[in-house]
This record gives sequence, structure tokens and C-alpha cells, in this order.
Amino acid sequence: MKILAIETSCDETAAAVVEDGNLVLSSSIATSKELHERTGGIVPEVAARKQVDFILPVIKDCLEQSNLSLRDIDKFAVTVGPGLIGSLVVGVSAAKSLAFSTGKELIPVNHLIGHLYANWLNTVTPPTLPAIALIVSGGHTDLVYMKDHGDFEYLGGTLDDAAGEAFDKTARLLNLKKYLGGVEISKIAATINKSSIEGQLPRPKIRDLDFDFSFSGLKSAVKRLVDAGNFEVSHVAKEFEDSIVEVLVSKTMRAVVEKNAKTLLLGGGVSANAKLRAILKDVCSKHNIKLYLPPAEFCTDSATYIASCAYFNQRSIPLEEIEINPSLGVMDYEFIQK
Ligand code: KG4
Ligand code: ZN
Repeated sequence: MKILAIETSCDETAAAVVEDGNLVLSSSIATSKELHERTGGIVPEVAARKQVDFILPVIKDCLEQSNLSLRDIDKFAVTVGPGLIGSLVVGVSAAKSLAFSTGKELIPVNHLIGHLYANWLNTVTPPTLPAIALIVSGGHTDLVYMKDHGDFEYLGGTLDDAAGEAFDKTARLLNLKKYLGGVEISKIAATINKSSIEGQLPRPKIRDLDFDFSFSGLKSAVKRLVDAGNFEVSHVAKEFEDSIVEVLVSKTMRAVVEKNAKTLLLGGGVSANAKLRAILKDVCSKHNIKLYLPPAEFCTDSATYIASCAYFNQRSIPLEEIEINPSLGVMDYEFIQK
């Protein structure tokens, strides 16, 4: 089955065709990131306008790349939330129009759960469920127990800043990059082996027995260092990254033990972080846990895994009942439950 998916939750406009939830036949992504880099943060109206400019070209491009026409598509899928309302409206309207004009089904997808399906793409050994799943994106940090497709138990999430948000705000504090600087922190941290301030930043909630996260205090601790002056960017970046990774790994592995899970899945932009990947690989191999890390190209926003998520969570819903929800949470998946 070939699903054409559309993803427009933030500043990327993406379309992809994926066969049987696994084989990526094409993927097209346009972004308005450069515009937001200039303003130092996302301007929702600008992102929405660019979605309008890009939506038809990316749909056309993903069909051309795969040498398919709309007749060859079996079903459509679209991200309905969470995200920026103006951006979501563009993708959902386009997807509804495609489904309406072709008389085919449209499957609504939760962006957060979608991220996890990056682990099902282009692989001969897809994950087996149940699994513990960690979603670490720009706006969300959620730990869930995925018993089956569409069957989740919520374990915990961020109480304030998400992991990606903390990376981005710290990159700004360190003057590395004004917008989406997670990668820059990681790059500069990798230039040294040991931080001169090792262990000096807090590891928030690491000893708490719940599965919640809180990264805003960590960012404030970096701010205090910066305000006091006399700091070296690479050493602060490394210590900051170490703190986030330690907390994420510690809580995630505790969830794995508590649920006696044999599989761990990661998803979201921060799962591209090299340090997080390396430590999880090491810990999981020691504990005989099967670890699935999305390939780098499927960590950040694209429509590929939205199509895969739709394939594994198909449900026939009348077009007029498909709604946008900008503040959809990880557990708001009733509409995709089997
Ligand atoms: O999942 P995503 O593409 O967008 C959302 O759905 O939010 O995640 C984007 C986030 C940004 O905060 C970005 O800085 C972060 O992922 N990110 C990274 C890395 N690559 C992307 N954070 C740390 N290390 C990286 N290598
Ligand atoms: Zn995302």
C-alpha cells in the first residue's frame, strides 16, 4: 500500500510516499528556517505563508521523484498536531482536498507518535513491540510504554522546557546560534574530551523516582555562568550536553527496567545527538536491550514517518471529522486507535 503523507507542523513543508509503512519511495522537504534564523526565532505568520508557497511544489516533487501519479496513491495521511496552527491548516487543507478530489481515505497522524515510526523506515528488521519509547523533539520530551501500535501508556514528560528547547536556548545564551542551535552545541562540545566545569551543572530530577523531566533550571544555571563571565563556550557546552544526556539516559533506562522491556525506540530531532546515541548504544548493549535509533535523515521533521505511522494506525474517519489540534499531546491518539 502506497501512502502519500503531508507534514506541515512547524517551519518545514514536507511530503513523502512510503510503501507498506517501510519503503520510502520519495521524500520532499522545503523549509523557511533561514527566514527564522534572521529574526532569531520563529515568526508563525511567516512560517504559515511559506507553507502556502511550498505545499504544492513539495507534493508535486514527491510524486515526480517516485514516478507516481495521484492515481497510484492508495491513501493520504497528514499531521494534525501538535504544531503551529497556521502551518497545520495549510497541510490539513491540502490533504483534505487531495482525499476529497480522489475519493481516497485520509489518515490523521499525531506528529509526536509519528516521530517514532522513523524506526520502521527502510529496514528489514523493524522494531518488535512492546517497547519503551523516548520522544525528544524541539517542543516535547515524552517517555511512553508502547505496548502495540495505537496502544500507549504514558510514563512521564517534561514539566517545562523540552530537551530540544533547552539545547536551543543554551545555544543562544552561548552566542552559538540564535535559532535551532542544538547541533552547534553538540559540535562544539565534541571538540574537547573533558569539561573544566565537569559535574558543576545540575542533573535535574535525575534521582526522582518519577519519569518526568525538567530542563529549565539547567538553562538558568548556564545563564548564571554566562552572566558571571569568564567561561569557555566549549566547556560549558560539553557540561550542558553531558547533563541532558545523563538525565535522559538514566530515566529512560529506569523505565526499561521497570517495564522489563527488551526494546527501546527513540524519535525526534534530539535523537540525532551523537552523544545521546553513543551512550544509549553502550548501555543497551551491556543490558541486552535492542535499541532502535532513527537514521540521521529521519530524525528531524519529514513526512516519511508520518506515512509510516498512518500505515500502522489505519482507521477510516470521515473527512469532515478530521480536525487540527495545535496542542495535541502524546496520549491524544484516540483518533488513530484501532
Ligand atoms: O523533531 P524536530 O525536528 O522538531 C520538532 O518536532 O520539534 O526537533 C528539532 C529539535 C531542535 O530543538 C534542534 O535543536 C534539536 O531537535 N536537534 C538537536 C540535534 N539535532 C537537532 N539537539 C541536539 N543535538 C543534535 N544533534
Ligand atoms: Zn518533529
